[in-house]
Amino acid sequence: MEVKMKVWIAVMAFWGIIDGSDGNLMKGYYKETCPLAEEIVRHNVQVAILRDPRMAASLLRLHFHDCFVLGCDGSVLLDTKGEMVSEKEATPNANSLRGFEVIDYIKYLLEEACPLTVSCSDILAMAARDSVFLRNGPWWEVLLGRRDSLKASLEGANRYIPAPNSSLEGLIANFKEQGLDVDDLIALSGAHTMGKARCVSFKQRITQPNTEQTFYDDRFKRHDTFRRVLRAQCRDSTRDNLLTPLDIVTPSNFDNHYFVNLLRGRGLLISDNVLVSEDHEGYVFKRVWDYAVDRDLFFADFAESMLKMGSINVLTGVDGEIRKSCRFVNAWI
Ligand code: HEM
Ligand SMILES: *[C@@H]1O[C@H](CO)[C@@H](O)[C@H](O)[C@H]1NC(C)=O
Repeated sequence: MEVKMKVWIAVMAFWGIIDGSDGNLMKGYYKETCPLAEEIVRHNVQVAILRDPRMAASLLRLHFHDCFVLGCDGSVLLDTKGEMVSEKEATPNANSLRGFEVIDYIKYLLEEACPLTVSCSDILAMAARDSVFLRNGPWWEVLLGRRDSLKASLEGANRYIPAPNSSLEGLIANFKEQGLDVDDLIALSGAHTMGKARCVSFKQRITQPNTEQTFYDDRFKRHDTFRRVLRAQCRDSTRDNLLTPLDIVTPSNFDNHYFVNLLRGRGLLISDNVLVSEDHEGYVFKRVWDYAVDRDLFFADFAESMLKMGSINVLTGVDGEIRKSCRFVNAWI
C-alpha cells in the first residue's frame, strides 16, 4: 500500500513536469479522461439560462466567490454538515448566492459520463466562462485541472469577499491580497454588467449625502433622479431583498454598458461608483473611460483577468480530491 502510494505520487509529479503544468492548470485537461466535459457544461448552462436569464450572472458570481476564499477549490459549494460550516452562510453569500442546483445537476451528469473525474471547481470555471459567452460576452479557453477542497471557510468568506460599501483603496487592497492588481479590479468589476443586487446591498449608496455634485455638475439633476427612484424603491427595511439590475440599461447582456453607467453616475453599488468618484482625473477613471468607449478592449481584458482570477490558489496534483457531490467532501458520503 505504502509503496503503491509512493509510485502513484511519483507518476503524478512526472505528469506535472511533462505536461508543463507543474502544479498549474492547462487547456483541454479533460480531452482524454472526459472528452464531453466542456460540452456537457456548456449545454446545461445554456438550458439553465434559457429558463432563467439571471442564472448567467449568478454562475459567474459563484466562480468569483469560490476563488476569493481559499482559492478556486469549490469550497463555496460545500454544505454545512458535522464540523463543516458552509460559506453559504457568510454575510456576502446568504440570501444572495444562487445557482447551486444548476451546478449539482451538471455534476450529476458528469458523474454519469465520467465518474470522479471532473472537479466541482472546474465546473464553476467552465460555467462562468459559458455564462459570459452565452450572454454575448467574450469567449476564452478555460484553464482546467483544479481539484476540490476538503474544507470551507465561513470566516474567509466574510473577510475576503469585498463589501459593497468598500472604498477604492479598500478594493485595491482586497484584490491585491488575491494577487490581482488594479487593472484586474477594474476589468472584473465589469461583471456587474449582468445580474441584480438587493436593496440592502446599495442602501448606503442612495442615502449617503451626495458628494459628487461638483464632479457631475451638469449631470447632477439626472444623477439625482437615479438616486431618488432607488430611494423610493428601497424606502424601508421590509424591502431589503427587493432586486434592482446592476446595469439598468442592458441588465441581461454582457457588454460594456456598466462602464458607461459609471461615467453617468449610475453605478449601483458604492464599490462600483468609487471607480469614478474617488479617482476623478486618475488612472482608474481613465481606464473606466477606455472601457466605456471600447467594448473589445474591455472584453479582451476581462477574459485575461478571469484567467488570472481562475488560477488563484488552485489545488492540483495530489492535493484535495475530486468530489463525488459538490455539496460534501467524499469522506462524508
Ligand atoms: C469589486 C468588488 C466587488 C464587490 C464589492 C461586489 C459586490 C456585489 C454585490 C453586493 C452584489 C449583489 C448581491 C446581492 O445584493 O444579493 C453583487 C452581484 C454580482 N456580482 Fe459582484 N462584487 C464585486 C466584484 C465582482 C466580480 C469580480 C465578479 C465576477 C467576476 C462579480 C460578479 C457579480 C455578478 C454577476 C453579480 C450579480 C449576481 C446575480 O444576479 O445573481 N462581482 N456583487
Ligand atoms: C460598510 O457598512 C457596514 C455596516 O453595514 C459598516 O460597519 C462599515 O463600516 C462600512 N464600511 C465602510 C468602508 O464604509
